Amino acid sequence: MAFTLVHKAVLVTLLALFITVCCATTHSAADYAMQQAERLVNSFNLSPKRPVNIIHDEAVKPAGLVERRFTFPGLADPSSNASVADLGHHAGYYPIKHSYDAKMFYFFFESRVSKADPVVIWLTGGPGCSSSVALFYENGPFKINDDLTLRWNDYGWDMASNILFVDQPTGTGFSYSSDERDLRHDETGVSNDLYDFLQAFFQGHPEFASNDFYVTGESYAGHYVPALASRINKGNKNKEGIHINLKGFAIGNGLTDPEHQYPAYTDFALANSLITQSDYARINEMVPECVREIQQCQTEEPACGYAYSTCNEIFESILAIAGNINYYDIRKQCVGELCYDFSNVEKFLNLDTVREALGVGDIEFVSCSKTVYYAMLDDWMKDYEEVIPLLLEEGIKVLIYAGEYDLICNWMGNSIWVNVMPWSGQQSFVSANVSSYIVGGKEVGLVKSFGPLTFLKVHNAGHMVPMDQPNVSLQMIKGWMSSSKGKVPAGKSKILP
Ligand SMILES: *[C@@H]1O[C@H](CO)[C@@H](O)[C@H](O)[C@H]1NC(C)=O
Ligand SMILES: *[C@@H]1O[C@H](CO)[C@@H](O)[C@H](O)[C@H]1NC(C)=O
Ligand SMILES: *[C@@H]1O[C@H](CO)[C@@H](O)[C@H](O)[C@H]1NC(C)=O
Repeated sequence: MAFTLVHKAVLVTLLALFITVCCATTHSAADYAMQQAERLVNSFNLSPKRPVNIIHDEAVKPAGLVERRFTFPGLADPSSNASVADLGHHAGYYPIKHSYDAKMFYFFFESRVSKADPVVIWLTGGPGCSSSVALFYENGPFKINDDLTLRWNDYGWDMASNILFVDQPTGTGFSYSSDERDLRHDETGVSNDLYDFLQAFFQGHPEFASNDFYVTGESYAGHYVPALASRINKGNKNKEGIHINLKGFAIGNGLTDPEHQYPAYTDFALANSLITQSDYARINEMVPECVREIQQCQTEEPACGYAYSTCNEIFESILAIAGNINYYDIRKQCVGELCYDFSNVEKFLNLDTVREALGVGDIEFVSCSKTVYYAMLDDWMKDYEEVIPLLLEEGIKVLIYAGEYDLICNWMGNSIWVNVMPWSGQQSFVSANVSSYIVGGKEVGLVKSFGPLTFLKVHNAGHMVPMDQPNVSLQMIKGWMSSSKGKVPAGKSKILP
């Protein structure tokens, strides 16, 4: 009797302890995620007025959901007297078929060179940041001047492709829904929505359906891009809808395989003298637990929040030593939390004249959605390298590139997962020679390639390669898309130090 009582008491205490430990930790993952979402927005000098575009008020929604051709007010075509309208700039919303009420916003810029160029979809990361951030600061047709007029970008990827910039997951940018159940929590949801979007797009633009098609993106899109490529491949096989002529996918400074990328933080930090050898040894003590939790997250969702907190302590420990470095480009400093000033994209897209041209009604532009970021928390540590081998075996080209000065999704972690990925060409890829990648007669990167797989480390660039090296990024995407094997044209071989 006494024993039972004691036993019960112990049990209750243990249970209470478990609940406290469990929920305190889960709580801290949630808190940390909210802080990170806040830090993301602040680091880019963005200040979205709303946390997410879940809109219940009918009055603010755009009147029609049709695509429209538009011209940005005040934009002149410098190269001819032709109207900019002739260039085929489209913006609009497509409703997402398998959702409650999601409407996805996009820009579509026809190629400045030829409509026969490939169709490319670009996805910005975050998770939760609008692809317009890349459009205006990286690889779109225009840049924003300080007086909120536009100037042409000679190195926009529309010089080599017909390019789509999509605001997603739902709730991001101008994309919206009236139903919270349309918020996504994993790549199944994200890739299904994007597949529905592409089906609607090609239905509206059948003249582009037979063009080559490429999925591209950056940062957290290291998750989206392989997931979408895999979803398209499945849709094609099952003849689910319009065949999408998928030829390849490219990821810039992505987060794809956390199990191999998180342990590389300390290697990159040591190699770049951000930390000392003794810091390295001390911080590395956190790695085994981080890796264990990431592995657990692949099969047990509740482990994902723990992995997120545990593993990000590695990153935070490095920052605590490295001071106010810009973790997107270690050559630079952040000022307070501010690392880049992307505030003009919000100012520009919220101009009445621009909103009217785009037909977005009274929907606010949510540059980066904290709610979407938070909703994807359990997806963060998931491994998306896993879907790539099947695509490689089918000859889908894969380009993994990384600016060499980025810490947050650094080239070392990307190089590691690309090399350890098991596929039939793995041994040949691992033993392939590293070559100089030459643009304009100069070595601008180091490239390694076998079959359809290419890895490229880009010199003198941080996280946002098209912003830091516009010409290199354009030549890269152009050369890679036009080569049948996927190789980025490169110069002489060179053994990596
Ligand atoms: C554009 O128009 C101006 C004035 O009509 C003319 O002088 C100029 O040559 C034109 N430029 C081109 C590229 O056609
Ligand atoms: C790699 O480079 C070495 C030295 O230049 C060369 O002998 C070898 O053939 C190259 N291997 C391949 C697969 O190209
Ligand atoms: C951009 O790259 C191309 C191709 O290598 C080269 O011909 C051109 O000179 C480069 N432009 C600039 C401004 O560097």
